[in-house]
Amino acid sequence: MSAPIIRSLSELRSMVSGWKKSGETVGVVPTMGALHQGHLSLVRAAKEGCDRVIVTIFINPKQFNNPEDYEKYPRTEEDDAQKLSPFDVDAVYVPDGPTMYPEGFATNVSVGGLTDVLCGAHRPGHFDGVATVVSKLFMQTQADRAYFGEKDFQQLQVVTRLAADLDIPIEVIGCPTIREEDGLAMSSRNLLLSDRARVWAPELNAAMEEMADALLSGGDIADTRAKAIARIERAGFTEVEYLDLRACDTLEELNAPTRPARLLAAAWLAGVRLIDNIAVG
Ligand code: PAF
Repeated sequence: MSAPIIRSLSELRSMVSGWKKSGETVGVVPTMGALHQGHLSLVRAAKEGCDRVIVTIFINPKQFNNPEDYEKYPRTEEDDAQKLSPFDVDAVYVPDGPTMYPEGFATNVSVGGLTDVLCGAHRPGHFDGVATVVSKLFMQTQADRAYFGEKDFQQLQVVTRLAADLDIPIEVIGCPTIREEDGLAMSSRNLLLSDRARVWAPELNAAMEEMADALLSGGDIADTRAKAIARIERAGFTEVEYLDLRACDTLEELNAPTRPARLLAAAWLAGVRLIDNIAVG
């Protein structure tokens, strides 16, 4: 059954307040559309964990530091609605720009520290845009639980921090990255890869897995990183923005996996920026 598409905040609010009055729990899956199996795994988790599920679709202009990137972001609303139909979600919230950012909108949510590194260092303003829209979506939906993919590991840490810091009564739940059979992490951006680039793309994950194994066997961070970057570049990537071992909770840089650690990377392939991360140990 197709879910009702809600475009206005007042309609969303009255729907949610009815559910809350009956004591039902509400889960939200925030997305920018172009849904793939990764998103659908979040919807599945939300359906299992909550009485009511809202999927939000809003391509948030504030989180694109490059206007061209915003323009070329895939817009696939009809297809998204079809992909959601087997899940029987309770609402698909698709606000427009003025609903999210009405004239005079002047508030910016900025999470310090965690956003200074990795994607934050390479995409100025990106995480402020994410933190601002996610805060709004949390308050608009009044959800009890929110589901995010570990694929965007830094984003997951940022939204967890903001919910705690702003006393938003929501539990942020991270769900595992879903991968294609060849290891490529599922991402809406994969749609932008040419057929040739799609063939090379899994090398990013393969090089990271090799680096993680080497680190776990006591390999030196600089040597293992250099080897991994050489492999990624041989596969046709033009730039590796970062390939770092970081602590899971604070994202501080590590030289060895001496505590729960993650290897995180961002690299450019044929004009498309891909990111990935894996647990180390
Ligand atoms: O991960 C995304 O798709 C976006 O960053 C999010 C969380 C929906 C905010 O716009």
